[in-house]
Amino acid sequence: MIKEYLKLRGLEVEKTLRDYFEELNYPEVIKDGMKYSVLNGGKRLRPVLLLMTLELLGKDINLGFPTAAAIEMIHSYSLVHDDLPALDNDDYRRGKSTTHKKFGEAEAILIGDSLLTYAFYILANKNEKLSSEKTIKIIEKISYAAGTQGMIGGQMIDIESEGKNIDLPTLQYIHTHKTGMMIRVPIQVGAIIGEATEKEIEYLTEYADLIGLAFQIKDDILDIEGDFETIGKPIGSDQGLNKATYPSIFGLERTKEMLKEKVEKAKEIIEKEFGEKGKYFVALAEYIEAREK
Ligand code: IPE
Ligand code: IPE
Ligand code: MG
Ligand code: MG
Ligand code: MG
Repeated sequence: MIKEYLKLRGLEVEKTLRDYFEELNYPEVIKDGMKYSVLNGGKRLRPVLLLMTLELLGKDINLGFPTAAAIEMIHSYSLVHDDLPALDNDDYRRGKSTTHKKFGEAEAILIGDSLLTYAFYILANKNEKLSSEKTIKIIEKISYAAGTQGMIGGQMIDIESEGKNIDLPTLQYIHTHKTGMMIRVPIQVGAIIGEATEKEIEYLTEYADLIGLAFQIKDDILDIEGDFETIGKPIGSDQGLNKATYPSIFGLERTKEMLKEKVEKAKEIIEKEFGEKGKYFVALAEYIEAREK
């Protein structure tokens, strides 16, 4: 059920993204590269989380599309730059050549920059259904999550830790920042748009942090046990770069137990606090543990 839900909502987000890209025309390579890097079969987990949050709060999901699309642009930019030769140096993403392989390295850097900046243009320009106060709060949360105190911080320590023996707090910093923050933020901004109560925000954030960590732990597992055709990106990339990952520190078996612990805890919080209304959040946590891509 959750797979169908992701697909359905994902298609709606893609339609919004397509419309926004159509507003760009020159230089063509930037427009083409942005479309190539975003409209290419991602799971759309982050934008769908925002829409799910609005649904959970009983609000109109149409209020969330501009922000959901902007978040997916930022996520996709982070992948374009993550794959660059200077970072993870990967050749495949979402089952196709990475953006720098397809368009060239200088182009990929600029395509990534364009996705990041266009996302903030969209947030400021397309949220006319929201109050300015809400829009400013959303921009603050998203810039925080994507920047030095969030994803970039995690990416930097990830790169710096290659080939090193790091301790658990450092590994946790990497995972919660490079991945966790961009999974927490759609729920946070969904809560802003949908005017969640303090308590709801607290429970949803706790859930988000658990599934964010679980998501990256599973990503580390898939880098070892995944199937290239299914995940659409190279297997063994982490080992090749001597990355600090959960399996590299704890071994696969313990890593899988830890993944399960996070997922079970995330499900418990939702079941306890939201009951039946939270069924998609419960199913999503299960999906994160079981996913093959
Ligand atoms: C990949 O994210 C990068 C990580 C944070 C692990 P996803 O697995 O969500 O990638 P797409 O968007 O579905 O391609
Ligand atoms: C990247 O983590 C997280 C980002 C912020 C892009 P990974 O480097 O493990 O992601 P993949 O495996 O290349 O998708
Ligand atoms: Mg990386
Ligand atoms: Mg990578
Ligand atoms: Mg990975």
